Amino acid sequence: MNLQNHMKRSTLFFTISLFLVWGCRPQQPVAVDAYNYPIVKHDTFQHAAVSSAHPLASEVGRYILEQGGTAMDAAIAVQYALAVVYPNAGNIGGGGFMVVHTKEGQSYTIDFREKAPGSAHRDMYLDSLGNADLSKSQNGHLASGVPGSVAGMELAYNKFGTMDFKKLIQPAIDLAEKGFTITEREAKGLNRMKTDFVKYNTQTPAFVKEQPWQDKDTLIQSDLAETLKRIQQHGSKGFYEGETARLIVEEMKRGGGIISEQDLKDYVAQERKPIVFDYKGYEIITMGLPSSGGLVIQQMMEMIKPYPIEQYGFQSKEAINLMVEVERRAYADRTEYMGDPDFVDVPVAKLVDTMYVRSRMADFTPLQASRSEHIKAGLVKEKEETTHFSIIDKDGNMVSLTTTINGAYGSRVVVGGAGFILNNEMDDFSAKPGVPNKFGLLGTEANSIAPGKRMLSAMSPTIVKKDGKPYAVVGTPGGSTIITSVFQTLVNLLDFDMSAYDAVNKPKFHHQWMPDLIYIEKDFDPQARKEVEALGYVFKERENIGRTEVLLVRDGKIEAVGDNRGDDSVAGW
Ligand code: DON
Repeated sequence: MNLQNHMKRSTLFFTISLFLVWGCRPQQPVAVDAYNYPIVKHDTFQHAAVSSAHPLASEVGRYILEQGGTAMDAAIAVQYALAVVYPNAGNIGGGGFMVVHTKEGQSYTIDFREKAPGSAHRDMYLDSLGNADLSKSQNGHLASGVPGSVAGMELAYNKFGTMDFKKLIQPAIDLAEKGFTITEREAKGLNRMKTDFVKYNTQTPAFVKEQPWQDKDTLIQSDLAETLKRIQQHGSKGFYEGETARLIVEEMKRGGGIISEQDLKDYVAQERKPIVFDYKGYEIITMGLPSSGGLVIQQMMEMIKPYPIEQYGFQSKEAINLMVEVERRAYADRTEYMGDPDFVDVPVAKLVDTMYVRSRMADFTPLQASRSEHIKAGLVKEKEETTHFSIIDKDGNMVSLTTTINGAYGSRVVVGGAGFILNNEMDDFSAKPGVPNKFGLLGTEANSIAPGKRMLSAMSPTIVKKDGKPYAVVGTPGGSTIITSVFQTLVNLLDFDMSAYDAVNKPKFHHQWMPDLIYIEKDFDPQARKEVEALGYVFKERENIGRTEVLLVRDGKIEAVGDNRGDDSVAGW
């Protein structure tokens, strides 16, 4: 080799090495700017990415990842940040589920779902005539289960945390203490909720002000900042004991709620066995009971497996017919059998047994609508709020986390002096067999109320691997529609080979057995609707379905998407 060539080679070598060293290391992490931030819907990142419901929460995640934090570190920071910047669903007063897949190839799930208080009982929402009074399970102090988020984050931290916990919660404290500018959507949400905040609170929360909120107003939450500092100082004891616990119990007493000091002390988050199954060579990792999400998704994917859905095409009448019929059957099973496995015997093995699942489709005739039993119920129109985020780090650790206070702004009760909203998760129990809850969902004994029991959920945080490598992180809010949204997103990605952007943003449909309707978003293809109506299905338009956060790894890059249906936003490096 002549000298010139040698020089060229060594320069090239040097450049490549420099690129590798620099390429694996972020530039100096840029701190989060709480007063000036864009909403980023779609981007591609080389190393690590976050998609969440709020730009500032995604930015907090990016900041942690850039400092060398893992996906799990970032998840804890994002969960706390959402509790500040996204009060309609982000929370410390609610609960959720976290699915983790480590770079070593292990899968874990953490259940931090709320629990019924110790003095809750089966008929607590029935009036003297035995009728269910859902206003009590949906709003105000009696609607809250014992919150699980703080215990869940502690369990996750003890198991996976690598950075100092104090640093992970600090961005949330700053956002609460110094404030941040709210988005137009948030301003509208807070204005819409003003009457309820006034009605259900004994002390005026930070969310209520004289003049209507406007885009880019600053929201400061001093009480919440103090609560977060107690958690920073004492871990979960800073929430379930001491001052915060005292404030929660006092709030309960003022408003006729039943969460006691003992209930708070007794709360534990739990590690659960993940649901893992194969779908056409992809490994799907998702959440088991007390969320019904994973089981129902597994049932539905098993049921569609024998059919060449990829040939039918996206939202063709054949594909919609097949997907609706599997949704109908799986949701019927959900209603009948599923509940908290610590309290009821759920025949899990049977429900996902291939023979059983396939036998459920024995009465399926392609291109024909079957019928659910007729009952008078429907999806309540009110906006639902839960929130999901997806994270991948530079080493391939992945976190899929869905968390909720159930309805938008939960029970609307803000703990006086502690500054956070309590959930209205008790409505996810079946208040009375045959009486649909907020999401039109029915339940039986399996999901009846009992002290310390967890209410059945639909939350479906999910991770997908392909050839043993990270492929996708998926999840969404949306009440009963969560499961079908995750199902559709997976089919869009795995069968229709769509981009993450299309998989998230194309219109969605939903069937939940009862009521016997196909719910669709307003921009659903009218031609597809007409063709499927001709098969005997009844359609109903509704508000947006879900707000799905997807990260997709293709060709060594992460495609990150925040749903166009909200302020959802992505970040990464
Ligand atoms: O756990 C559940 O299934 C419900 N509490 C979720 C509520 C929800 O997704 C509302 N959000 N859009």
